[in-house]
Amino acid sequence: MKVLVIGKGGRAHAMAWKIAASQAVTQVFVAPGNAGTAMEQKVQNVPIGMDDVDALVDFAKKEQIDLSVAGPVIPLVAGVADRFEAEGLAFFGAGRAAAELENSKAFAKAFLARHAIPTARYELFTQSGPAIEFIEAHGAPIVIKADGLASGKGVIVAQSVEEANNAVRDILDANRFGDAGARVVIEEYLEGEECSFVVMSDGINVLPMVPCQDHKRRDEGDTGVNTGGMGAYSPVAAVTPELHARIMHEIIMPTLTAMREAEKIPYKGFLYVGIMITPDGAPKVLEFNCRFGDPEAQPTMMRLQSDFAQHLLAGVQGRLDKEVALWDDRTALGVVLAPAEYPEKFQGGAVIEGLDETDDPDLKLFHSGTQQRDDGSVVTTVGRTLTVTALAADMHQARKKVYSRIEKITFDAMYYRADIGHRALSAGSPAF
Ligand code: AMP
Ligand code: GLY
Repeated sequence: MKVLVIGKGGRAHAMAWKIAASQAVTQVFVAPGNAGTAMEQKVQNVPIGMDDVDALVDFAKKEQIDLSVAGPVIPLVAGVADRFEAEGLAFFGAGRAAAELENSKAFAKAFLARHAIPTARYELFTQSGPAIEFIEAHGAPIVIKADGLASGKGVIVAQSVEEANNAVRDILDANRFGDAGARVVIEEYLEGEECSFVVMSDGINVLPMVPCQDHKRRDEGDTGVNTGGMGAYSPVAAVTPELHARIMHEIIMPTLTAMREAEKIPYKGFLYVGIMITPDGAPKVLEFNCRFGDPEAQPTMMRLQSDFAQHLLAGVQGRLDKEVALWDDRTALGVVLAPAEYPEKFQGGAVIEGLDETDDPDLKLFHSGTQQRDDGSVVTTVGRTLTVTALAADMHQARKKVYSRIEKITFDAMYYRADIGHRALSAGSPAF
C-alpha cells in the first residue's frame, strides 16, 4: 500500500512514521514534509503545498496512492477530502462541510446548543460596543474567541474586564486575525482539568484514540499566551473508565449522530474534542477540531501498538467497528522545542545541532518547522521546531528521558517548558 500524508508538522511526522511501520505499507509520501520526514525509512517528501488540492490529486493519481490522510485542518478546509473522494481516491478526513466544526467557533457553538451537547454558555458578537456591554455585565474571568482559524492563538482567557475589552477591540476593531476575527464568541469561563479526546470516525462507527493532556499556554505553570501546544502526554489520570464512557455517551456519540442525522453531514475523519472536566466531574466541550492534535499525535502514536495504516483504511471503508486499537500501557510524553519568539512570527534559519537519532525505540524526535539544507545541516523554519517524545514506565521516568535528550539539542534562542507533565505529577506520581 502507498500512502500520502499531507502536512509538515510534528503530527504529520508522527503519523507518517507510524504508517511506515505497517507491514502492508511499501511507501509513504509526505506533502510537503520536513527534515524529519525526509530522514524516515520508507518515507519521501514531495514539494506540494498543503492546500494545493489539484496538485495533490494529480500526484495521488500518478503515484496510484492507496490511502491519503491530512495532518492539519488547512487541506480539509480547502476541500481535499471531497476532491479525493470525487476522484475515487481513498482519503481519511473530514469534508469541507464537516470541517466547519473547527473552521467556525460560531458554527460549533450553535451546533452544540442545537443538540444540547454540554459546553460553556456563550454569545456571538460582530460589533465591539455590544460585546463590551456584555463583558461589563458579566465580569471576569471570561473567554474571548475569534470565530475563525487562528492556529490556537485566537482564544483569550481574560482575567479582568479590561483585558477582555482589549481583546474584543483587538479582534473586532483592529482586525488582529483578519477575516477569522470578523465575529467573536464570548464564553463563560470554565474551571477544571482539560483533556484532548480524539476519535476516528467512519461516519457511524468510532475508534477512540487514547486521551491526552496538552499544555497550551506558552510558559511554565500554564501561564502566558495560548499556543498550538507546548507539550502533551498520555495517559491522563483524570479520565477514568467511567469518565471515558461518559464522554463517549454525552459528547462523542451525540455529536456524530447529530452530524449524520440532523445536519446531514456524516462525519468521517479524526474528531478532536477539547474537553473541560469541571470540578463536579462533568465533561464539557471547549472546542472541536477536525484533525488529530499537534502535539497530541506524537505521544499517541508512540503508545499505539496496532497498525495505524489499517485503522485509517478501515476508517475510509466504514469498518471501524471491526478495528481494535492496541495501546502501550506506559506513559508517553512529548515536549515541544520552539524558537523563543513562538507563537509570534519569526524568520527561522537557525542551525539545529544534536538531532542524531539514538537506537532507543522508546525515544523519538518528531520534527515540525525544520528544513534540511543542501549541505546536510538542518535549520528552523516557522512555528514549533521539534517534539522530543518518550515512552517510559511512569511520568517521572518519561520526563527524565525527554529532558535529558533535550539537553543535547541546541539552536539559537531555543525555548521549551521544563514543566510539561507537571499536572500528572501532582496527580500522584513521584516528583521529578
Ligand atoms: P480552544 O481553542 O477553544 O480550545 O481554546 C484554547 C484554550 O483556551 C483551551 O484549551 C482552554 O485552555 C482555554 N479555554 C477555552 N475556552 C475556555 C473556557 N470556556 N473556559 C476556560 N478556558 C477556556
Ligand atoms: N494541541 C492543540 C491542537 O492540536 O489543536
